Amino acid sequence: MRKRKLIWALGITASLLLLVGYNGQTKKVHNPNLLSIAHRGASSFAPENTRAAFQKGVELQADYLECDVHVSKDGELVIMHDEKVDRTTNGSGLISEYTLEELKNLDVGSYHSDMFAGETIMTMNELLEEFYDHVGLLIELKNPASYPGVEEKVVSILNEYEDLGSIIIQSFDVESMRKIHNLLPSLEVAVLIRPAESLLSSRKLDDLTSFASYINFNVSFLNKRMVDNIHRRDSKVLVWSKKDKKLVAKAQKYGVDGIISDFSKWPDNEQIFLVQE
Ligand code: G3P
Ligand code: CA
Repeated sequence: MRKRKLIWALGITASLLLLVGYNGQTKKVHNPNLLSIAHRGASSFAPENTRAAFQKGVELQADYLECDVHVSKDGELVIMHDEKVDRTTNGSGLISEYTLEELKNLDVGSYHSDMFAGETIMTMNELLEEFYDHVGLLIELKNPASYPGVEEKVVSILNEYEDLGSIIIQSFDVESMRKIHNLLPSLEVAVLIRPAESLLSSRKLDDLTSFASYINFNVSFLNKRMVDNIHRRDSKVLVWSKKDKKLVAKAQKYGVDGIISDFSKWPDNEQIFLVQE
């Protein structure tokens, strides 16, 4: 009898994992007290930066959805990671060479699996309209220097929203984030630190934390002392990693405030993180 129950339990677990298309590991974490941020949406489960990945992130109870923003030929803010469409669509070339209408004709789901065929690119406006009320948004500006005026566009869109408490804008481009902060001081901004630049001097930290609410690192290029130095200056730290299986353990050890990765909390609200292999 016990054996039959065990077989049933194994069968149900396997079916669930097949259903979500998950092929990684599960790891149980007790009281991590960390923000859970779904990287490019719940991109372990669905094509990155798509409505499907964002919906999955909400379903898995992520605290924030992370996404990437570029600008189309006709000046629309669109959600995609690479500056070219080649890797994640059936098209080729730069996003900036496509109008929004042309981008909307691309398939952004099939590269992941046939299940997501016909998925279309989202604009930042559409992302906000659909998800603002449900989850925090961590919006990364990709290569803002290539898109003059992108900061003003972002601020103009966000000015339509009264409460910006659930939105963070981030970028590797420090001056772009300083500009966003100056244009809209009530909006939290984050500076992403490139691995090669992870050793930040006290002077640099003073400068960054004077306007950035978060300083975000690849977890492999961080230590507890740096986190303490940032906390002492009243800013927070998020870490990301695409592959590091010790991400959660390191995040806890360093005392950071949240994790950006391709995993989210499991729906039963237990602190279980799914780590993609
Ligand atoms: O949020 C951090 C992370 O998104 C930065 O790397 O390449 O995934 O945008 P990338
Ligand atoms: Ca990103």
